[in-house]
Amino acid sequence: MKDDKVSIIGCGNIGLSLLQGLLKESIIAPESITVTKRNIQELAYLGGQGIKLSSDNVAAVKDSSLIVIAVKPYNITEVLEEIRDYLDPQKQVLISVTAGTTLSQIQDVIGKSMPIFRAMPNISASVGRSVSCICHNSDGRRDVERVKSLFDNFGTTMTIDEELMQAATILGACGIAYVLRFIRAMIQGGIQIGFDAKTASAIVNQTVKGAAELLIERKEHPEFEIDKVTTPKGCTIVGLNEMEHNGFSSSLIKGIVASYEKIEK
Ligand SMILES: NC(=O)c1ccc[n+]([C@@H]2O[C@H](COP(=O)([O-])OP(=O)(O)OC[C@H]3O[C@@H](n4cnc5c(N)ncnc54)[C@H](OP(=O)(O)O)[C@@H]3O)[C@@H](O)[C@H]2O)c1
Repeated sequence: MKDDKVSIIGCGNIGLSLLQGLLKESIIAPESITVTKRNIQELAYLGGQGIKLSSDNVAAVKDSSLIVIAVKPYNITEVLEEIRDYLDPQKQVLISVTAGTTLSQIQDVIGKSMPIFRAMPNISASVGRSVSCICHNSDGRRDVERVKSLFDNFGTTMTIDEELMQAATILGACGIAYVLRFIRAMIQGGIQIGFDAKTASAIVNQTVKGAAELLIERKEHPEFEIDKVTTPKGCTIVGLNEMEHNGFSSSLIKGIVASYEKIEK
């Protein structure tokens, strides 16, 4: 993996998060990373770090072994058509983080057998805390560890069946927005009960991080930990029940299902 050269084709929000994750981990030298977008001058501020900045997708592909496509779904066909003649099935791996575009759709456009992966990270890749779900075609079997090593730079990586990629997009990639909105609401509540915004944010951010790490480390169900916090007739259970009366869990579940129905359309 450290000998691989990586290109990120379409360095927008998620492409930049992946780039930042790679630079943070420094397993791959910046000189081995190329990022592209048509308006590449928008990334000029990244110059001087050794990364190659380009608007030439073909040159980027020719110079890489791991090619990450990070464009919007409506741009992926033109990008694949542009690079397909320069893909080397023996040496290269094609990885798409584009939501909704299937392995077979990608295969059809490039018109040749080669290792193809889909991956679904989230923007916390920039700080090495993403969860990335990946799946691959049959040619990709030989490169699973290589691609996992790449995505481990961004956090944790798990292999899933392709039919779950849309669900992974909602729970993992959109999921971070749901959690951030939850955090914002907690901060607003904290301000109303007396903290300034900065202190409220510091308390809430660490509380959310602590709750997640507790579950990750102990591998318990959330309700098991909640039981430890809820004194009979106490303030926690009163607050929790009030939230539930107002549809807290229900609105989250409905939101997740609404997002899923939207992506499945
Ligand atoms: N944002 C997330 O949290 C997230 C997470 C996981 C997956 N995804 C998926 O990743 C994809 C990109 O999402 P995004 O939010 O990063 O979108 P975005 O910010 O719009 O980034 C896409 C980038 O692609 C570039 N681009 C478009 N056409 C191109 C071409 N022909 N050659 C090279 N670059 C090109 C655009 O820049 P120019 O216009 O300058 O070319 C743009 O910066 C989507 O399919 C999304 O579903 C997003």
